[in-house]
Amino acid sequence: MDLKIVDNYSEMSEIAANTVAGLVQSKQAAVLGLATGSTPEGMYARLVEIYREGAIDFNSVKTFNLDEYVGLAPEHPQSYHQYMNKHLFDHVNIKPNNTSIPYCSSNDDPAVVCAEFENKIKQAGGIDLQVLGIGVNGHVGFNEPASHLRTTTHLVELAEETIEANSRFFNTVDEVPGKAITMGMGSIMGARKVILLASGKNKAKAVRSSFSGLISTETPASLLQLHREVMVVVDREAASLL
Ligand code: GLP
Repeated sequence: MDLKIVDNYSEMSEIAANTVAGLVQSKQAAVLGLATGSTPEGMYARLVEIYREGAIDFNSVKTFNLDEYVGLAPEHPQSYHQYMNKHLFDHVNIKPNNTSIPYCSSNDDPAVVCAEFENKIKQAGGIDLQVLGIGVNGHVGFNEPASHLRTTTHLVELAEETIEANSRFFNTVDEVPGKAITMGMGSIMGARKVILLASGKNKAKAVRSSFSGLISTETPASLLQLHREVMVVVDREAASLL
């Protein structure tokens, strides 16, 4: 595991953007695994700048997003579909058909949605680089702490802490959907390279339990210590309990 402790959020974002850009420069048809949340916003902003400078081209790039709330229409302002449009897709020359987010309406069969999503990743040749944030409880994507974790893309019930943490994006906590579709730990571990980002004091506990040498399904991010090529970029605050 390559652990980089950096001074602040902007340094973390810069390293992450350069890692993604470096891959896209070396492999035109790169397959990216993408994350949402506050953490990667700076990375996306920097990537858009790099794109505008003419240094990267998204024309042949494919992307797979880690997760999405169930029952939230792609047009909903808090959907991860809108997040991705706002922070990346609307600003670069990526083809909409090359972007995948696991959408499941309340009428869809989640098992079918999940199987199709996994298949699409396989057909694309697997993920070259998976970008991850981390939840305050150590979740990645929406793989919540549990005695058992699922390997492939699946339906999850969100933990109370997650609903609480994510309620800052909604008007009230009751508006936060209780279910989501997420890539499984196996889908994530199957990426050829992983980069996990963490910033701020509220992530310090999760960072400590994830990267201090023990692994447990009760801290899903800790499983990443078993990945052959994982880079963890944390700022000083997030690293303060290491
Ligand atoms: C959400 C997402 C995760 C993300 C986490 C942390 O629950 N499903 O993929 O890593 O929140 O978000 P933030 O970066 O806003 O702290």
